[in-house]
Amino acid sequence: MTTPKRIVLSSDHAAIDLRRAIAAHIAAQGHEVADIGPMTPESTHYPLHGRAAAEQVASGAADLGIILCGTGQGIMMAANKVAGIRCGVCADPYSAAMTRAHNNANMLSIGARVVGEGLALEIVDAFLGTQFEGGRHATRVDMIEG
Ligand code: RB5
Repeated sequence: MTTPKRIVLSSDHAAIDLRRAIAAHIAAQGHEVADIGPMTPESTHYPLHGRAAAEQVASGAADLGIILCGTGQGIMMAANKVAGIRCGVCADPYSAAMTRAHNNANMLSIGARVVGEGLALEIVDAFLGTQFEGGRHATRVDMIEG
């Protein structure tokens, strides 16, 4: 069990079912989950949802964010435009752990058309279960911020 955190989730229309599965999975682990939608399946625009979740993380309203679209790519790009956000798109648990350990990622992006639910939950567990290592990695992360 990882330390409970406040986690914001969002997606576009391509990832609603997987987002809900992730929300249920992490809520069952004791995390405080804010699923900010969308709640209905109409086609929508991933930049809106990536930014909305990223702003919650950047403001401190959430500790971490998990966002999804079809590939995970577009919504990740949108989130990374918000100051203070470091969002990695991951399709395997190793990358998800390392983007926390070395990059101090505060958001995770997943492609719902790339990975199945079982693998997605393993990716989420790796992300939430890993701490930033600091040290030389902190120096490099500070360089990202400029
Ligand atoms: C929507 O069709 C799709 O473009 C979107 O979910 C995402 O994959 C964009 O990066």
